[in-house]
Amino acid sequence: MSDTKNKKIYKAKVAAIEKVTQSSFYIELKCENPVEVKAGQFVSIYCGGLTLRRPFSVFTNNNGNIGILFKERGKGTEYIKSLKVGDIVDLIGPFGNSFDIKNKKSLLIGAGIGVAPISYLKEKLDKNGITNTFAAGFLTKNEVPQKINIDKIYTDDGSIGEKGSIIDYLEKLIQEIDPEIIYACGPHIVLKTVADLGIKYNIETQVAMEKVMACSIGVCRGCVIDVIKDGKTVNASVCKDGPVFKGNEVVWQ
Ligand SMILES: Cc1cc2nc3c(=O)[nH]c(=O)nc-3n(C[C@H](O)[C@H](O)[C@H](O)COP(=O)(O)OP(=O)(O)OC[C@H]3O[C@@H](n4cnc5c(N)ncnc54)[C@H](O)[C@@H]3O)c2cc1C
Ligand code: FES
Repeated sequence: MSDTKNKKIYKAKVAAIEKVTQSSFYIELKCENPVEVKAGQFVSIYCGGLTLRRPFSVFTNNNGNIGILFKERGKGTEYIKSLKVGDIVDLIGPFGNSFDIKNKKSLLIGAGIGVAPISYLKEKLDKNGITNTFAAGFLTKNEVPQKINIDKIYTDDGSIGEKGSIIDYLEKLIQEIDPEIIYACGPHIVLKTVADLGIKYNIETQVAMEKVMACSIGVCRGCVIDVIKDGKTVNASVCKDGPVFKGNEVVWQ
């Protein structure tokens, strides 16, 4: 078997593209060279004439076929949405660190499109026989992507699962499941709440952060956040030092 560690992908061919919810799409990209991708890592896609590449978490990776779940937001995602099977995509990655998987009872929290890296993480935990519960929150049932193995669903409008924001259920979930570690991805407020509860209940939390990115390789400093290391507040780039950080080390704004 060839060594796929630390290798980078540079080109891929669209193998499949489909609409999976009211506002999100799944694209499968057959990479020219299969690489190993850890849960939490992302790839960066050149979107037609746009100067800045757009970052996307890896959702699935089957023998070099990388799946991405994306929500249409602006010009970049509109371009990706317009791709057809057989088109060639200029894609580089994987980038970033990853979730640091521990053999501990795990609570996985995903909100909105943040379920993508969490679903990939769950796949890895399941493969390693690590006990886990995946809880996910969405605005409505129309935003719940198919083919994701979620244990507990929350929707703001109650159209599927429990009614209300997942934020309001986080503490109850922690009390019920009694996790030893929590992994999360989603909007800033969800991640901050997870981090705060981790501190309150003395549970390790790992959160995958999102920042608008330019270079994706730690050079431009455009994605910097503040973190606490050895008691001091220092800068960290989400693209290179992250996107996954310990919740209790992030200086939440
Ligand atoms: C590490 C990482 C992983 C990501 N993984 C995914 C993923 O799996 N699926 C997915 O759909 N999206 C993901 N994103 C967000 C994705 O990169 C943006 O949605 C995308 O760049 C938007 O490009 P656009 O040209 O369509 O929109 P733009 O025209 O660039 O922006 C449209 C709107 O989206 C906002 N926006 C742009 N980038 C981001 C961002 N990074 N975070 C929050 N809001 C943003 C802008 O402020 C603006 O309001 C990820 C971002 C990061 C940093
Ligand atoms: S995007 Fe350039 S340093 Fe992170």
